[in-house]
Amino acid sequence: MNSVLEKKNRSDILKICGGRPLKGEVVVQGAKNSLPKIMVASLLTKAPCILKNVAPIKDVEIIRELISALGGKVQNIDSTSIVMETPKMSLVPAKRLEDFSGQSRIPILLCGPLLARLGEAIVPSLGGCQIGTRPVDFHLSALRSLGAKITETPYGYHLKAKKLYGNKIHLDYPSVGATEQVLLASVLAEGVTELSNAANEPEIIELIAVLQKMGANISVDLDRVINIRGVSELKGFEHSAMTDRLEVASWACAAIVTNGKIFVKHATQLDMMTFLNKFRQIGGEFDVKDDGIFFWRKSKDLKSLALETGVHPGFMTDWQQAFVVALTQADGVSVVHETVYENRLGYVSTLNHMGAKIQLYQECLGSHFCRFGQRNYLHSAVIVGPTQLKSAAIHIPDLRGGFSYVIAALAAEGISTIQNIQLIYRGYGNFIEKLVHLGADILE
Ligand code: EPU
Repeated sequence: MNSVLEKKNRSDILKICGGRPLKGEVVVQGAKNSLPKIMVASLLTKAPCILKNVAPIKDVEIIRELISALGGKVQNIDSTSIVMETPKMSLVPAKRLEDFSGQSRIPILLCGPLLARLGEAIVPSLGGCQIGTRPVDFHLSALRSLGAKITETPYGYHLKAKKLYGNKIHLDYPSVGATEQVLLASVLAEGVTELSNAANEPEIIELIAVLQKMGANISVDLDRVINIRGVSELKGFEHSAMTDRLEVASWACAAIVTNGKIFVKHATQLDMMTFLNKFRQIGGEFDVKDDGIFFWRKSKDLKSLALETGVHPGFMTDWQQAFVVALTQADGVSVVHETVYENRLGYVSTLNHMGAKIQLYQECLGSHFCRFGQRNYLHSAVIVGPTQLKSAAIHIPDLRGGFSYVIAALAAEGISTIQNIQLIYRGYGNFIEKLVHLGADILE
């Protein structure tokens, strides 16, 4: 890596001179919302577990450190593969735990493995992007149903259970994290757990596949019901993680917003179908190859549309932000109804500052009412386009909002200064190298 890039990678500020189309190839690795959970699954066994296609992202680093703090070892096999082994495990002291508090949402998923192996778990209070209240009530209530006694402490949660027992659990909303919690806690519980209204995102199906490789007995029904028959022991696994479909969508949007053409290596069509349909509807085009997907703008003018985010197989809430930047370039009025997080449109005020015309509404501007309607949450957006974006001094509020600002800056007239870019490394490995490689004008 050259010294300018090294300096940029350490810096928390990125300066982009907009106006250049992004052209070329980017390689996307394992999914941010999959890798850390598979790493947590490795704690369910004493045997070595091999994980391939590991992306160089902050969330992976955090779980690596947590596994080490618990007494396990994580070693690199090569630049994208690791082996994890935790033959002995002990609780992380409360003092050490404070280092992890507020950094990530993954540590709450340690409950199952720690209870199974130690009969006790201490997990830090949670971090992650500030995009809503993000409670963990479903997690706690599911763990209680399986037999855990939980107390809240100043540094997080303290759980105890000599043994967990299978039970019937219903989620009020198909939460990704709570579904993963139930999976990781019930695979080694005694008896059968029936989880209804479960999330079924591809990242969850991947976690189930890994658990199956380990010896777990899990069946998934079409009606969002997952049955887990507990087993007494699990073995190690070897697994190559699925491609990050959120990063793929981000580069696809960068291609059409800058009027360039990007080949996203390792992008997979099957996990992206809903996105691809909407992408084509607004005037984007793609060509699926065996080893990735080309993305570009088909027509000179992009077209407006109405869109609702939702649970799988709907349009992902994490695709929404970069797509909204594309909609600022579309001809006419677009409507986006965010139904997963109540506060995931806060980032648009900065886009307006850059010249976009986006108005937020409390009403559900979609084909159905969601949990946030009439509850004072600005969760619907009306976007009027096309607008010429202009440069600005920007502060990144959260991961996906942050990457959408990068895309806006790439299309804007003039030099934008973006602060807090370290947040983007939580989910986009080597993103500055990738931008430079695609021809972005990144200033020193
Ligand atoms: N919810 C509750 N109670 C709970 C759990 C969730 O009310 O106990 C609510 C949340 O407040 C939210 C909704 O349920 O309104 C969905 O939350 P979910 O649990 O599905 O989200 P998560 O597991 O915390 C993961 C991803 C998010 C992604 C969502 C939805 C990880 C580490 N995070 O979060 O990713 O947006 O699923 O697909 O997997 C991102 O990558 O930028 C990101 C935020």
